[in-house]
Amino acid sequence: MSSIQELLFRPFESEKLSLPNRLVMAPMTRNHSPNWIPEQATADYYQRRAAHDTGLIITEGTPVNHIASNGYPGVPRFFGEDALAGWKNVVDAVHEVGGKIMPQIWHVGSMRKAGMPPEPEVPGYSPSGYSTPGKLRCHAMTDSEVADVIEAFAQAAEDAQRLGFDGVEIHGAHGYLIDQFFWGGVNLRTDKYGGDYVARTRFAVEIIEAIRKRVSESFPVVLRYSQWKQQDYSVKLAQTPDELAKFLEPLTNAGVDIFDCSTRRFWEQEFEDSTLNLAGWTKKITGKPTITVGSVGLKGGPGGFTDLAATNEADHDFDKLAERLEREEFDLVAIGRALLSDPEWCSKMKRGAFDDMKAYSMQSLGTLY
Ligand code: FNR
Repeated sequence: MSSIQELLFRPFESEKLSLPNRLVMAPMTRNHSPNWIPEQATADYYQRRAAHDTGLIITEGTPVNHIASNGYPGVPRFFGEDALAGWKNVVDAVHEVGGKIMPQIWHVGSMRKAGMPPEPEVPGYSPSGYSTPGKLRCHAMTDSEVADVIEAFAQAAEDAQRLGFDGVEIHGAHGYLIDQFFWGGVNLRTDKYGGDYVARTRFAVEIIEAIRKRVSESFPVVLRYSQWKQQDYSVKLAQTPDELAKFLEPLTNAGVDIFDCSTRRFWEQEFEDSTLNLAGWTKKITGKPTITVGSVGLKGGPGGFTDLAATNEADHDFDKLAERLEREEFDLVAIGRALLSDPEWCSKMKRGAFDDMKAYSMQSLGTLY
């Protein structure tokens, strides 16, 4: 078997994207952008990782142009010339050292709590007014509001290409707005955006189609999705491979180039009777390249999806990952928390300097280093 370094440092070639290796920085909200604008510190933060062998950076989630898109303080937005100029500085900094970068465009939907900027009185928006199943606490979106949000995603993707990003990732995971449309527990609509698990892809499909019309054919569109929700880790959008195939088909046809399949532990099989994980199944079903993620290099604890108390894998055991890479179960591997503490994590992986990898610690959240 090839070593983990050999496997991760094979170049990646696909129809629309070429990368020097298989390592991707996972999108991670950092809350370090006062006034919603990415500053020089943000550019330096991403550049540091690009300069140390991170093949592709996916930025922190960045809200599209809608009054209810943001849910958290200090998050850089993806609209307004001031914020877009900040993002241009980020792109240039990453390109300067030979890296590649895509923004993760985002609408938090019902996860928005009152009090958040820009208009504190604006409630969370959701498909049917539910924040979680049975809890009617949010604004149920009208058709024209749905159309506004689709347009906001399309504009963000167009701006991403104009600014020189290497593609765009749509945040369709973790119980945020697009995922709320996917999820039958909170999407009770009776129009074309509701219905069975295939019908519930309609909102995402229209976003992808709108984006495809506004960016060039060669511009990669990545969709991040997850079975689980922050509101309920046990939810599964698809119960079987057959259901997953039906769910993925309209998304693929709409124009997704790469699927970013968010799981909390990459080694967990998705369905009975096969060891394939979600990225494995998604690649097998769609034939598209996929990104896996979830506790690479970390000893997963029982906590939430970001499990801030996680620690580095003591014996740096990458065998489970190597086996799956060797079988080409998926194409790319996203690294989240491990890259927060150690911007040089990917270079250390390349050299096999496992003992030099800095241990993940919650303290790393305090700065943008
Ligand atoms: C995240 N994650 C995340 N995911 C996403 O799609 N958009 C986001 O903005 C964020 N924000 C975020 C912030 C922080 C501090 C953490 C730790 C995580 C999830 C992240 O992309 C990744 O899927 C998980 O962290 C699992 O990967 P690791 O950390 O186990 O490698």
